[in-house]
Amino acid sequence: MSTVPGFGALLPRPVSVRPAPGECLLDPAARPEVVLVPELPAEGYRLEIGRDGVRITAADAAGACHAEQTLRQLKGPDAFRAANIHSGPWRLPCGVVTDHPRFRWRGCLLDVARHFRTKAEVLRFTDLLATHKLNVLHLHLTDDQGWRPEIPRYPRLTAVGAWRRESMVGRHDGPERDGRPHGGFYTRADLREIVAYAAARGITVVPEIDVPGHSRAAIAAYPDLGGGAEVDVWTSWGVSAEVLDPSESTMDFYRSVFDELLEIFPAPVIGIGGDEVPGATAAHRGFVARIAEHLHARGRRALGWDEVLDGPPLPSDTIIGAWRDGAAAARAAAAGHDVVLCPERHVYLDHRQSAHPDEPVPAGFVRTLADVHGWEPEAGPHVLGVQAQVWTEHLDSVRRVDYAAFPRLAAFAEVAWSSGRRDYTEFLPRLREHHLPRLDALGVEYRPLDGPLPWQTRPGVQGRPR
Ligand code: ACM
Repeated sequence: MSTVPGFGALLPRPVSVRPAPGECLLDPAARPEVVLVPELPAEGYRLEIGRDGVRITAADAAGACHAEQTLRQLKGPDAFRAANIHSGPWRLPCGVVTDHPRFRWRGCLLDVARHFRTKAEVLRFTDLLATHKLNVLHLHLTDDQGWRPEIPRYPRLTAVGAWRRESMVGRHDGPERDGRPHGGFYTRADLREIVAYAAARGITVVPEIDVPGHSRAAIAAYPDLGGGAEVDVWTSWGVSAEVLDPSESTMDFYRSVFDELLEIFPAPVIGIGGDEVPGATAAHRGFVARIAEHLHARGRRALGWDEVLDGPPLPSDTIIGAWRDGAAAARAAAAGHDVVLCPERHVYLDHRQSAHPDEPVPAGFVRTLADVHGWEPEAGPHVLGVQAQVWTEHLDSVRRVDYAAFPRLAAFAEVAWSSGRRDYTEFLPRLREHHLPRLDALGVEYRPLDGPLPWQTRPGVQGRPR
């Protein structure tokens, strides 16, 4: 497409490049001129690199962020360091890049419930999403194993629900525990900071409070929510049989929890879970629908996992996260709901990256870099976009998150952003030669293409391969 050296290194690739001969020199202190032109496609931009400087014309603030990322990619790996170690001007190929994303929802879920990630780690992860031009950070904030957002009206949610005695190690059905307490929570100020930090990078933070299953941490804090039985914050992985008692008082409790969330998160979309509810009854399904209605009445859209389609009708603006199979997306669209495609078979990044026995804590299906790159999501009028999931049962540190997410999230970013046929034989050398050096400069401990480094393995920890 381009004869200008460097443009092939773009990740995602530019849709259109108009090369000009030669190199342009850019003073490191120079800021590009930015003009917003709403007529461009949403999040689209035009990046002009000329001898007289750099000019960005963008549809909106997000488009300007993406143009800045492209400019950074063109500067080379050193532009991804935290401080400038580069002497002299940046040498850039002259030319024009015009681009816009294929999908308007390009998300990544980060599960901070199973393993808490500090605020600093969440901010760093947000930066990494921006680097890959992803625009939704779906924060999975509550589960059986932990409750993370501070809710002042119900202090035990974090005083009790944010902490567990110990954690399961490896598989889901064994006796192995690490014997170490684990936990943490975010204050309202922390969450507001994360939201603002993300917004400045063109990213919307979609918070998720999972109901009525995956709720054992809340029940440990307030046993009445589960019908009165005393339970601990779960120290096992899997799906706890403890679910919310769908009573009127539980409904009142959760209405105030969600109202608090709405004060913190300006996102038009709020996650309500709804997945994997053992023994779900009509009352449980009705509970989910009423929470969705509560959000709808407050001008927000609920996002539920595809199980919510099994219940009573939901507000028509409810968004479905289709994770179980392709049929779920079709069902949701047939019922008139918008859909985010997030199939476990393709984009669950906690799943193992190879069948090799050295793969650390091997969980789920083998989903290689090539598999993720090769996923072809089916677009349709109701499809808002796509989302990768980083569940963290087996990712107990930020280093483990890096390993699971990268470089597969870079391949996912290509799926999410770029239209047209993808070719893995074109992507792989581009990744190796241009993008992995950027991740190195950022300090991301990705999985090397030929397998884990010795300290990335977890010998002796049995996983849960499927
Ligand atoms: C899910 O993986 N339970 C949404």
